[in-house]
Amino acid sequence: MSVTAQRFSKRSAAIFAVVLAVAQAIWIAPADAREETVASPSGEIVVSISDEGGRAAYSVTFRGEPVIAPSRLGLLFKDRHGFDRDLRLTNATPSNHDDTWEQPWGERRLVRDRHNELLATFAAENGPAREMSVRFRVFDDGVGFRYEVGKQKALKGAVDITNELTEFGVGDQATAWWIPSGEFNRYEYVYHETPAGDVQDAHTPITFRQPSGVHLSIHEAALVDYSGMSLQSLRPGNFKASLSPWSDGVLVKTKTPFKTPWRTIQISPDAKGLLNSSLILNLNAPNTLGDVSWFEPGKYVGIWWAMHIRDRSWGRDGIHGATTEETKRYMDFAAEHGFNGVLVEGWNIGWDGDWFNNGALFSFTESYPDFDLDALGAYGAEKGANLIGHHETSGDVSNYEAQLSDALDLYERVGVRLIKSGYVADAGQIERIDDQGIKRYEWHDGQFMVRHHLHVVKEAAKRKIAINPHEPVKDTGLRRTYPNWVSREGARGMEFNAWGSPPNPPSHEAVLAFTRMLAGPMDFTPGIFDLEPNKRPPLREDMQRSDPSNRPQTTLAKQLALYVVLYSPIQMAADLPENYEKRMDAFQFIKDVPADWEESVALNGEVGDFVTFARKERGGEDWYLGALTNEDARTLDIPLDFLDGGKTYVAEIYRDGKDADWKHNPYAISIYKREVTSAETLRLPLASSGGAAIRFTPAE
Ligand code: NOJ
Ligand code: CA
Repeated sequence: MSVTAQRFSKRSAAIFAVVLAVAQAIWIAPADAREETVASPSGEIVVSISDEGGRAAYSVTFRGEPVIAPSRLGLLFKDRHGFDRDLRLTNATPSNHDDTWEQPWGERRLVRDRHNELLATFAAENGPAREMSVRFRVFDDGVGFRYEVGKQKALKGAVDITNELTEFGVGDQATAWWIPSGEFNRYEYVYHETPAGDVQDAHTPITFRQPSGVHLSIHEAALVDYSGMSLQSLRPGNFKASLSPWSDGVLVKTKTPFKTPWRTIQISPDAKGLLNSSLILNLNAPNTLGDVSWFEPGKYVGIWWAMHIRDRSWGRDGIHGATTEETKRYMDFAAEHGFNGVLVEGWNIGWDGDWFNNGALFSFTESYPDFDLDALGAYGAEKGANLIGHHETSGDVSNYEAQLSDALDLYERVGVRLIKSGYVADAGQIERIDDQGIKRYEWHDGQFMVRHHLHVVKEAAKRKIAINPHEPVKDTGLRRTYPNWVSREGARGMEFNAWGSPPNPPSHEAVLAFTRMLAGPMDFTPGIFDLEPNKRPPLREDMQRSDPSNRPQTTLAKQLALYVVLYSPIQMAADLPENYEKRMDAFQFIKDVPADWEESVALNGEVGDFVTFARKERGGEDWYLGALTNEDARTLDIPLDFLDGGKTYVAEIYRDGKDADWKHNPYAISIYKREVTSAETLRLPLASSGGAAIRFTPAE
């Protein structure tokens, strides 16, 4: 610093001190702010909670680095005093917890829930006496907090939430991976990678990487009877909870006592740590259904891709897919190759013509004349390849709810154990007929749909049926409480590669693993073997295929890797049986790979670039590995130390062949066996948008 500058800064410091002293003399200082902290069991994550300036706020550090700057908390209500300003932190009750619980099915059997808790109570110092609490749970893999508002005189009767003030001060230096919220295609967007300061309104989970390399994912857990939260950008890198409104503008309709969903921040020193976190599940309530062994994880095929690539159709236009004969063909194929389910779409009345806009025409109990539901239920049961039901609503939810119990009774009677549902409608266009008979339009992630989905799941559970919604509300870990809510869509799945314009880019699955998949299982429907389906001539002269550039932008080996990377307890082998019959060598991996795991470990990865998972099958000794990359070819060196020490394993390796690349040579695959031990490091070359899939079996 120059002498002049030093003199100047000394003088300004003196002036500042005088101004401060005067200000302090004339300003009546408020009662001292109170600050409380709670740390993770490891001590690495510290949450501070304060009432500074009369506002409730929290901040988070990880290994001493601020990862969430001081951020507001609070709730506002319609026609009631809320919790905004003039708040005082009156109570802070610490506790801790450590136990291990078991999943009936899942990516791992045992989950450890170890956290420290602080229940912070804030009292309002204006208006009628009232208080709200915020319960913080700090785990070694992140933080969860939720509001708890007890029964109290000032908040009697119906309470309409008009604003949730929760903020997340991530900072504008982070990089973000996100999809927009509030846009027509719900969650079905290609992820953006931008500076956090350029994020507009975004859905969660949203993933951030701080300049230090620390990764964060913001989401929510246990979304029950509340509206889904997205993030609104307040200032660059500073986000606020935005709740999906009802059609009348209210955000949440509730009454005291109530608890909000958990707001979650997963924190890891690197990208792969996010994938090894169980925070979302740990913040959900335990299983309320008891024995759910009636749900069997497994793999399925279906009359589905044929519609998306325009070989068949849902309705009656000469190429109806859901015929008795065709279903039997799929059931025979499933039984022969060890799959336990066959999905059939387009079996019921209502698909003819413009089904997208005519959801009210769907019948959920009447099948088309060429589909013999009773006979196929029995045929599938006899073969061990059960019929998987399908309920497309086109977003006409009142029509569906009116038929729900009859529809579920019917499926229960014919032996359907799993139903895929669908809510194809633009965001904000879910039809609800209210109790006055007036048609209202709701959001897919608003409180109405949050209630609807749980209602369906509970009704299905009574009949021992599992549910897999497409165009769903996002996953917040409710599979722990309701283990028949087994999977869902809620992102761009394989279907976009049939007609997406553009299809999913080569980086898509390497982003999904670190974003959408943190919420829970996805029915992505992998396993396409004919990678250029739209290159074929159309079926008839009066028909057209979609643009040939719509195709999976992956190699064949990467299609196999998806079964290990993208977890779901139901995995589809999505392509046509005849396409598998042409490639039985590669198909063997899909036949072998389980859908239920004893343990899962993410071994490496960077968001949007590459990722490797190892998973151990449940009830057996085999390990499986899946690795995939974006458009960049790369070589991964993978220590095999996850395998049991002292054992020799036979590794059946399916990897990109010489000169493979997704665009020009996607089918080149190298399939071979070799012996390995846990002491080795395996070198895996991956092609551009390529992958590798490996089964490790203990040698005799
Ligand atoms: C969209 C779903 O994601 C897809 O799987 C389904 O085939 C169609 N809707 C028709 O229900
Ligand atoms: Ca969809």
